[in-house]
Amino acid sequence: MKNVMSPLDFSVEELEALMDKATDIMAHPQKYAHACDGKILATLFYEPSTRTRLSFEAAMLRLGGKTLGFHSADSSSATKGETVADTIRVISSFADICAMRHPKEGAPMVAAEKSSIPVINAGDGGHQHPTQTLTDLMTIHSLKGHFDNLTIGMCGDLKFGRTVHSLIEALLRYSNIHFVFISPKELMLPGYIKDKLDSHPDIQYEEVTTLEEVLPKLDVLYMTRVQRERFFNEEDYVRLKDFYILDKKKMALAGPDMLVLHPLPRVNEISTEIDDDPRAVFFKQVKFGMYIRMALILKLLDINVD
Ligand code: NCD
Repeated sequence: MKNVMSPLDFSVEELEALMDKATDIMAHPQKYAHACDGKILATLFYEPSTRTRLSFEAAMLRLGGKTLGFHSADSSSATKGETVADTIRVISSFADICAMRHPKEGAPMVAAEKSSIPVINAGDGGHQHPTQTLTDLMTIHSLKGHFDNLTIGMCGDLKFGRTVHSLIEALLRYSNIHFVFISPKELMLPGYIKDKLDSHPDIQYEEVTTLEEVLPKLDVLYMTRVQRERFFNEEDYVRLKDFYILDKKKMALAGPDMLVLHPLPRVNEISTEIDDDPRAVFFKQVKFGMYIRMALILKLLDINVD
């Protein structure tokens, strides 16, 4: 496989191998410290990001490689009218692999068609975010040990949240998962995702509007931020942004082993008063993200370390 556009670009077996590799890198980082000597990763970010871009860069640097790139459309030739297709042709001469984030859905795919180096979709509009999904899967798998039979709550902006869309698609391949979607009416899952859920008869799901009613039964709670940048008007954003705030009082309703994940950045949806709760694993999740990206870079560059 050369490009990563969707979490479904990996088979379940490939995913497992990737998570095993990431676990090995975590345990023996020295073994991998020069695996990418002489290689360059380009990060082409047409939309703001801290975590994802730095996570990719840290991953490459920890493998001994180097990085270059830009972190906003304003600082790239996009302001002069250059197309993504031309940019990637140019970057293909400079780097060995590239991670691209773009506000337009499908832009990384257009780039991949013209690229001679592997392209990783690092988030395209409200569509997909496959490496966040790898991060989320690695976190759940490392801390729960499995995916099957889990009750997974997803809360917040289910309409525009690309991390939610990608994670649902990836989890549909496991058995007996029970999804609980918690959102205000305005931010419910898009129809095309519900159609995918409906085509899997062994997957159950429910849609609710309050967290309190479902917290006791969840194994995992995936919180998300209301995606301000994808709203058409500020009023709607302001009305919906504080719809859910996960605080100590709500955490008291959850079971002792429920994990709280969040792709970050958080705004108000998780109160800092729960940061020290052992069930709050969103900062651990960031670390898993770097290791799984290291494993991914090695795979795409076809570099084997035994
Ligand atoms: C997410 C994204 O960019 O979609 N962040 C991330 O990659 N860690 C989530 C978000 O921005 O809310």
